[in-house]
Order: sequence, then structure tokens, then C-alpha cells
Amino acid sequence: MSGPNSDYDPVEVTPLRADEIARMRVEALAAIAAADSLPALKQARLEHAGDRSPLALANREIGALPPQARKEAGRRVGAARRDVAEAMVAATSALEAEAEATMLVTESVDVTLPYDRDPRGSRHPLTTLQERIADVFVAMGWEVAEGPEVEAEWLNFDALNMVPDHPARTLQDTFFLEPADAHLVLRTHTSPVQARSLLTRGLPVYVICPGRTYRTDELDATHTPVFYQVEGLAVDRGLTMGHLKGTLDHFAAAMFGAGTLTRFRPSYFPFTEPSAEVDLRCFVCRGLTPDVEHCRTCKGEGWIEWGGCGVVNPRVLVACGVDPDVYRGFAFGMGIDRTLLFRHDVHDMRDMVEGDVRFTRAFGLEV
Ligand code: DAH
Repeated sequence: MSGPNSDYDPVEVTPLRADEIARMRVEALAAIAAADSLPALKQARLEHAGDRSPLALANREIGALPPQARKEAGRRVGAARRDVAEAMVAATSALEAEAEATMLVTESVDVTLPYDRDPRGSRHPLTTLQERIADVFVAMGWEVAEGPEVEAEWLNFDALNMVPDHPARTLQDTFFLEPADAHLVLRTHTSPVQARSLLTRGLPVYVICPGRTYRTDELDATHTPVFYQVEGLAVDRGLTMGHLKGTLDHFAAAMFGAGTLTRFRPSYFPFTEPSAEVDLRCFVCRGLTPDVEHCRTCKGEGWIEWGGCGVVNPRVLVACGVDPDVYRGFAFGMGIDRTLLFRHDVHDMRDMVEGDVRFTRAFGLEV
């Protein structure tokens, strides 16, 4: 900026001449009007309203005018700059509104279009039921035990007093793994976890083990080669069949409702002595005549088979290094698939294994 100069004639200072100011104003307004986008408007702002724009530079010259000329020049430049600033504000809001309207069109989502995303799945009821069963026992202070699905033949059979010529060991029931001399099988029941728990945990032992098991069955309405069992084992001083019955009554009530009746039927399992089958009172006919005679659920029995149980055979305790004169135990094993079948009135095993979401979805999105 030049210093005040009394000889200064505003008419002679080119940037402050009325026609010059008018020209700057017109050019600025034309540039603003020509800007068709926000970036273009930004450029026009820099050139015509920024610090180095002609009008800003002219404004700086005012101070160099003699006092009597400043007022007129200031008014002229001020009016021009105000017009430009107003045009800038108007153009900015117009272009912003336009940009927003364009965005609403180009970035809109038609929420009424059919969607093609995979629906959210739900956990399989066999999985959630296994967790519920574990919860029932954990609440009583038991621990959850696990064992491998590829199991040592010795643990699956021998440790459980199932001698080499036991019928369940034959090829018809068991998946043997190669090479044969590795003596590995896909576990045919969860009972090997009994032996594993006795061998690895300190006494007393109270464990529950839900898990997957395998047998060479064909898949049909009542059989599946891959199924689920839950094993229970308690070994402590002074345990009796009465403790077993009380435990299973509690388990049955937790699964099927308070007051569910159970009964023990004498049976045979190599790893328990005495052994029993556990039956549940039929939920449909409740064993009452005359309904029981035509009941399709229990086939006229009034009772439904649920699983096996018994007092742990001392031979199993000995095989696992436990002194049978000091410790006694009880064990039980139930089919989880069967439990689900009864609990939810499922009629066909295949529905459980085929993975159709319409089956799982009926159990809700339990996580
Ligand atoms: N492991 C037996 C089976 O698969 C079921 C069973 C019966 C388990 C009696 C037990 C038991 O623990 O005591 O058929």
C-alpha cells in the first residue's frame, strides 16, 4: 500500500476509477454466475473475492488516497464487494442444494427392492440343547468334560470292560480308522470320556460330557450314523443307586418339566453293574388307559426309553487306577437327538441332520 499523498487524484488511480470498479464487479458477478459446481465456485471466490482479487487490491489502495477522496472511493468499492459477497452466498446455497438433490437421487437405496443377502442363520437346536444340559449339571457343581471324536479303541471299549469279542465292537457298528494297527475308532459313545476323566482328573469326579458319536447306521427316520450323546459320571465315596436316581429325576425334570416320572428297568451294560435303562413316562398318553392302548408315541407301553445307567463296574475303576474298595460311582448316557425328538415332538431324525434352515429357524435365533 502506498502512503497518503496529497497530490493523489482518485480519478488518476486506475483501480479506483468508477468504470474500473464497475468492470471488476461485473466480471466477479459473471464468474459467480458461470460457476456450475461447488469446486468452480471456490475458484471464482479465490479469483474475485479472495485477498488477491482485483476488488480486494482496489480496497487496499483507498488508504493511499487523500482524505477527501477516500469516502467516495470507499463507498464505491464497498458496494461492489458487498454485491459480490451476496452473489457468492446465494450461489453457494444454490449449488449446495443442487449437490444435495443430486446425491439424494444417485445415492438413494430402494428399500422396497427384493433383497438377495443370505438370511441370518440360527444355531442348531442340538448345539443349544447340549449347552442347556451342561448348564443343568454345572448348576449342581459338576464339570463339563470333553474327549476326542477319534478315540483309542482301548478307551472306547477295553477300559469300559467291553472285551475284544463284544458284539458292539464288530464292523457292523463301529467305524474303524486306518491303519488298523493304530487302533483308532470314531467313538461309538461318549462313555470313553468316563475313562479319560478317571485317568486325568483327581477324585472325586463329577463330570458331564455332551458330544458327537458315530455308528455305522443308515440314515432313516429313527437312525443317523452321526448322533449326540450325553455322558454323566460321578465317582466319590459312598455313592449309591439312590444318588443316581435323584440325579436323573432332576435331569428329566429340567428337560421335560417338573414332575416328569422316570423308572429304572434292569438291563446290562459292561461298564455298569447293576445296570438299568431309564424310561420316561409317555408325555402323550401319560400311561393312562384307555389312551395308552392306541398311543403312537410310546407304542402302547406308557413309557419311553431315554438312556442307560448304572453303578460303575469295579473293573472300570480298576482299569483306570481307582480303588473300588474306597470309591464307588454311577454313570449314565442319553441320546441328545432322542431328547430333542421328545422335547420338541420332532418326528424324523433326518430333519435334524439335513441342515434345512426352516427346521432350525423354528427354534428361534438362540445364541
Ligand atoms: N454308552 C451306552 C450306549 O451308548 C449308554 C450308557 C449306558 C452310558 C449306561 C452309561 C451307562 O454311562 O452307565 O448305549
